Amino acid sequence: MQKRRLVVTAALPYANGDIHIGHLVEYLQTDFWVRFHKMRGHECVYICADDTHGTPIMLRARQDGITPEELIAASYERHVKDFADFEIEFDNFYSTNSQENREFCETIFDRLKENNAIIYKNVPQLYCPNDKMFLPDRFVKGTCPKCDAADQYGDSCESCGTTYSPVDMKDARCAICNTGKPEIRDSEQIFFNIELYRDYLIEWLSQHVSKDVANKLLEWFEEDTKLLPWNISRDAPYFGFEIPGHPGKFFYVWLDAPVGYMASLLNWCNKNNENFDSWWNNRDAELYHFIGKDIVRFHCLFWPALLHSAGYKGPTRVFVHGFLTVNGEKMSKSRGTFINARTYLDHLNPAYLRYYYACKINNTTDDVDLNFEDFVSRVNSDLVGKITNLASRGAQMLNRNLEGKMGVMDAEGRSIVEKFREKAPIIAEHYENRRFSQVPVEVCRLADMANEFFDRKQPWNSIKTDLEETRKVITSILNMFRLLAIYLTPVLPEYSRKVSELLKEDAYTWKSLDRDLENQEISKYEYLAVRVGSEQVEKIIEATKKDMEPVKKQKGSMPEKKNPLKPEIDIDQFNLTDLRVALVETAEVVEGSDKLIRLSLDLGHLGKRSILSGIRDAYPDPSVLNGKLIIVVANLKPRKMRFGVSEGMVLSAGGTDTATLRVISPLGDTQPGDPIG
Ligand code: 2FM
Ligand code: ZN
Repeated sequence: MQKRRLVVTAALPYANGDIHIGHLVEYLQTDFWVRFHKMRGHECVYICADDTHGTPIMLRARQDGITPEELIAASYERHVKDFADFEIEFDNFYSTNSQENREFCETIFDRLKENNAIIYKNVPQLYCPNDKMFLPDRFVKGTCPKCDAADQYGDSCESCGTTYSPVDMKDARCAICNTGKPEIRDSEQIFFNIELYRDYLIEWLSQHVSKDVANKLLEWFEEDTKLLPWNISRDAPYFGFEIPGHPGKFFYVWLDAPVGYMASLLNWCNKNNENFDSWWNNRDAELYHFIGKDIVRFHCLFWPALLHSAGYKGPTRVFVHGFLTVNGEKMSKSRGTFINARTYLDHLNPAYLRYYYACKINNTTDDVDLNFEDFVSRVNSDLVGKITNLASRGAQMLNRNLEGKMGVMDAEGRSIVEKFREKAPIIAEHYENRRFSQVPVEVCRLADMANEFFDRKQPWNSIKTDLEETRKVITSILNMFRLLAIYLTPVLPEYSRKVSELLKEDAYTWKSLDRDLENQEISKYEYLAVRVGSEQVEKIIEATKKDMEPVKKQKGSMPEKKNPLKPEIDIDQFNLTDLRVALVETAEVVEGSDKLIRLSLDLGHLGKRSILSGIRDAYPDPSVLNGKLIIVVANLKPRKMRFGVSEGMVLSAGGTDTATLRVISPLGDTQPGDPIG
């Protein structure tokens, strides 16, 4: 077999959210595929990174009161741990916010310019005067121009499905501050002229993606329609790489994200004394991207055209998979099926999900359904009942009654083991072609044969009369089991490692299949897999429901708002607020209102005030405030309310729940009327 050199990538997860079981459909199948190739003795690296740039990440950091760098560092740590605990083994997991990535982006941009593939155009865009920034489509909300559905995003209507430009929306508003009325401002943008690569792409698509993916994409290439230039720039403020020669313009995150594959590979090369070109640009090396069907346009149009224009080799193949559904439906937070990797790991062994996904994942773009009943049943009856039981029964009997020593196989056992071995080419083909679901099918069929042999030979009976015959039978059983464990190694690496330890062997490779294991001692049996109870799955669902943290949505969507940060102000604006210490003379309920308390206040030399404050939930008996020093906004314009005029505002702090709000009291020696600063 000729040794191959493969670079394999999985899509880069956004650095503003946790890894969930939907993501795992991709990272696990890629892991299966990479591990398989490594077992076959090929040179293969699994490359990934966090996708760290863009508006949603910048805004989330702002909302959390941290820098984007702090946000992505925290995310990085969580991601790395989740992946490791799921036995996903990257050769390099890096970050798009790296020097290597900046340099690649700049080189690619220079080369596009040299090839006249860059166009500059003025584009009218929405701008929030409050936030002082241009708004991506997803950050504009308003009424659909077609069907009048309210509260739609700026790019498409969820109600009637129409796509439009935010400029055409009715009553568009900024979704960041929720108040700003977006203005249209012109801004010069930088475009990649992808139309230049039309012929190249048509040819490329016919060779590098599956037929159905190619056909879908070829719809964009209708006669007479041009491929629209792709805007690769964004205006400041933006968290990303500033474009050289274009102050205030940044590379769009979707440009620097795939370039992040190259940067992560280069980083791996530098750490391992390898040459980048011999991995990426070498004609004999192969490059594979695993992606979900939602990001096909980026990987199968823009990306190959960009690489081609910049003089880099394109992907050998882009493998596109479907989405995860749970019990036949979209993952949902309210149903408790939007399960984070960590929540799963808190309750169950990762091997079970790895095994189950292997049973379900194929080389098509069909969605993959995780059905919990089916999950429990496949783990219990197949992985534990059929496969693992061979080892637990066989090894424990050998240890208990036969000094843990294997002998030679009996003739029938040997011939069954041979049949097991004959399956190697077909199982290898399933892996190679990403028909992962066929692997457990083959393995379970073999396990059925092994169990039938086990039950027919009844070693638990023969052990009483014929020790040596029993040793032969168990030696055969353990050899059968061993081959199954080798076949499953890409799917169950930790399980396989424990099997190799049990049998006192080195880690398995595909070559290990050739060997018979005879006349050898084994170790003590350590558990490999135990039955799953449906109550464990229930616990995961409950924990997911309970997790009241908003799900950090991916795909450039709006960050969820939990007390969103208001637009930035400067110190002069802040100084306009006059905060003062006030003494509560009396605090009383306002008749007819369940929310308001009337506070009669003494502000020292500023005189007396009456303020109506909505803190009744927290102070059912307002008199507890009598005699307290509090802080008020003293220069707020008096407001006429239903129950009278309010002459200022009381500062209070607490959760979003009104019952937890408490007035703030100044500490130390202060007098009514003193300023706060
Ligand atoms: O869709 C996503 O989750 C993106 N973060 C994937 C980027 S993949 C590649 F282009 F970097
Ligand atoms: Zn705004």
